[in-house]
Amino acid sequence: MRVLVTWGSKHGGTEGIARILGDALERHGFDVEVTSVGKVSRLDTFDAVIVGGALYANRWPSNVRWFVGRHLSRLRQVPVWFFSSGPLDDSAEHQDIPATRQVGVLAERVGARGHITFGGRLERDAKGFPASAMAKEHSGDWRNPEHIRAWADRLAIELPHAAPGTPVPHRAAALPRLLAHGVLGWAVGAVILAVLSPLIGITAARIVHTLAVPFIFSAVGWHYFRVRGAREPLPTAVVWTALVALLDLVIVAGLVQRDVAMFSSILAVWLPLVLVFLTTWAVGEMMAMMPETVRAAKQVKA
Ligand SMILES: Cc1cc2nc3c(=O)[nH]c(=O)nc-3n(C[C@H](O)[C@H](O)[C@H](O)COP(=O)(O)O)c2cc1C
Repeated sequence: MRVLVTWGSKHGGTEGIARILGDALERHGFDVEVTSVGKVSRLDTFDAVIVGGALYANRWPSNVRWFVGRHLSRLRQVPVWFFSSGPLDDSAEHQDIPATRQVGVLAERVGARGHITFGGRLERDAKGFPASAMAKEHSGDWRNPEHIRAWADRLAIELPHAAPGTPVPHRAAALPRLLAHGVLGWAVGAVILAVLSPLIGITAARIVHTLAVPFIFSAVGWHYFRVRGAREPLPTAVVWTALVALLDLVIVAGLVQRDVAMFSSILAVWLPLVLVFLTTWAVGEMMAMMPETVRAAKQVKA
């Protein structure tokens, strides 16, 4: 039975966990390949896959998320397990730390059979901000080989009989929902312009509109991203920006003004588009960083 153990990381600690897992599974007689997500080109030669990611602000690095997205259909055909490496203390040894929201959603999308969180490692001389700042107080190696081998032993029992898990569909990621939120954001902006232009003039109305864009798309983004399983912030920002540009072109320039001159104005078109993109991306990223409990509390209050 061929098993792939693959990982995505920023500072190398997760590789150590993947290698301990790989060695332990090999000792159980499995044919194991241990390699980083960036080096995996195809999955069809593996009968099971174990995917690991380092946690940064409750999220896996983007290369692991892209790996899962790119190989989604194959990952759904084989048994898959996830592991996260993170806590810079011994908490992972004493309790089951559930997958963070983002990792949990990925696991559901794949139909992963299980997830475990292992302790992490942060070297005292970690490079780059914010790791170097964090290392001043939280450096240490909390990867416990015994804990990791114990999980490998459990997998070794399950692996020979394991079937692929059942993916959970996420209605929050549906295309109509994505497009409807983008159209709503554009429509609120269009109403502001249409109402204010006759009252205060087109230039002043455009200034107010541009200032309002971050607020509009913060609210729209919050409404979109708060539901579990919504799409990733970056593609969402790209789609909404393109949608707003298209609606400006077709409805405002094409049907209302019958002139594309507005596209030569930074204030009328380009600055609002940049703000749509940045606001959507930032709101999505910030919401993904929030721990599940904080979000749940916010949702209950809302
Ligand atoms: C900036 C930063 C943010 C982190 N955020 C989290 C986190 O949200 N949850 C967690 O459990 N660990 C967190 N950690 C700890 C890392 O997940 C841990 O150091 C991990 O072992 C890093 O793996 P890597 O060396 O493979 O990149 C964070 C570390 C840094 C430097």
